[in-house]
Amino acid sequence: MKEIKKITCIGAGYVGGPTMSVIAQKNPDVEVTVVDLNHARIAAWNDEDLDKLPVYEPGLDAVVGEARGRNLFFSTEVDRAIDEADMIFISVNTPTKTYGKGKGQAADLKFIELCARQIAAVAKDDKIVVEKSTLPVRTAEALKNILENTGNGVNFHILSNPEFLAEGTAVTDLHNPDRVLIGGEDAEAIEALVNVYAAWVPRERILTTNLWSSELSKLVANAFLAQRVSSINAISELCEVTGANVDEVARAIGQDSRIGGKFLKASVGFGGSCFQKDILNLVYIARTYNLYEVADYWEQVIIMNDHQKTRFAEKIIQTMYNTVNGKHIAFLGWAFKKDTNDTRESAAIYVADHLLDEEAQVVVYDPKVSAEQIYRDLDYLGTRSPEDNRRLLKVVDNAYEALDGAHAAAVLTEWDEFKGYDWAKIKEGMKRPSFVFDGRKLLDRKELNRLGFAYYAIGE
Ligand code: UDX
Ligand code: ADP
Repeated sequence: MKEIKKITCIGAGYVGGPTMSVIAQKNPDVEVTVVDLNHARIAAWNDEDLDKLPVYEPGLDAVVGEARGRNLFFSTEVDRAIDEADMIFISVNTPTKTYGKGKGQAADLKFIELCARQIAAVAKDDKIVVEKSTLPVRTAEALKNILENTGNGVNFHILSNPEFLAEGTAVTDLHNPDRVLIGGEDAEAIEALVNVYAAWVPRERILTTNLWSSELSKLVANAFLAQRVSSINAISELCEVTGANVDEVARAIGQDSRIGGKFLKASVGFGGSCFQKDILNLVYIARTYNLYEVADYWEQVIIMNDHQKTRFAEKIIQTMYNTVNGKHIAFLGWAFKKDTNDTRESAAIYVADHLLDEEAQVVVYDPKVSAEQIYRDLDYLGTRSPEDNRRLLKVVDNAYEALDGAHAAAVLTEWDEFKGYDWAKIKEGMKRPSFVFDGRKLLDRKELNRLGFAYYAIGE
């Protein structure tokens, strides 16, 4: 197998951008080109001002600053980058289908298929094609069929190399991964990709498997993580009625080394582009093979998550004397977790939607999410007209402004800065009684009670 000198990645999103930046940083002799059809996105990746990168991740600006222009390039010339590459990563979006068969469950593979067809049309010499996007099991099969039926004599080796980075910690996760997973059939192709990672990842952490195990492991890893969140969220509801405290329960069970303490933080519900999508994929695949008990088992993780979001919105309404009509509710946070500007499947969207149905006046502040994105998220739901969304919900760029005159504050994202606010000053500006609904168990109950807030937190 010839040495890998040029890598191309199709898709400059939350996965492709950071992953390729680190691969380039750690392999200065390999030329890495990230391409995307979206011109604005590529322009932002090329912006002189590293604060304007399209993906916000702590530490990413430094990595891009180091490698960009040296051996890391962002471009819209997809065909040229495909033609020149020895290895092509496919890192395009695979959203849940919104139409046709499998609507609301199956992954929409049209972007993947378009990539495969484009690679097939352009490639003139042998390529290694790497699936980076999260995909349903056996997608490699489809990729293979498309690539191998080009009839132009080019050989393609397909590898699965799912990404396990979590947003908000992408750079540290990439620099120091628990494991790198590579699935494939061709030993030389696998070795070529192992070598790319071995530039900084210890060999014993690079696992190789067959294609299907690799594809399935990604879905299962996310399903297990999401299941832990739904499990602790289920217990949070029980804690609220029994007088137990969910953080204390989580600590008590997490000390058992067989259970472990991570991913046991009760919350308003998990979000992000992966958990829900991957479980829906798992459920869909299980149903396709008539494994109904398996499908129902995993579907319950999502049902619990939806319940948690609804329950939080209803708790707000019920506590505020069963009506929020015309009441000013300040949202602290919109992103699906802290340290990211990503809002996909964020619990905040669904909680807001529920409160807007009740004609609440929601004012949102998030340190990294733009007003355009927030309205796009709401409009996408299609629950009410864009005019009504803008009439009922405002976005401001200062938390104190969001909270001024509010009947209630609701914490939707666990941004660190919310803890450091001057809550005494905030209290003075709020209506009385001043409610705080903490969907992240972020704030200090004792302190807020001392200041006279009516404080409600999940699982207490
Ligand atoms: C996840 C996986 O962690 C990662 O390995 C995979 O590559 C992509 O999907 P991500 O969605 O970026 O990463 O973030 P993650 O930290 O897993 O959080 C997902 C959601 O669960 C967030 O909304 C987070 O707030 C929530 N969560 C997480 C909890 O509510 N409680 C927890 O204890 C942990
Ligand atoms: P992820 O979180 O998986 O990275 P994103 O939506 O952030 O998903 O990024 C996927 C990117 O892939 C988008 O910027 C989109 O424009 C790009 N993309 C989708 N299809 C193609 C294609 N055929 N060629 C090039 N880029 C594509």
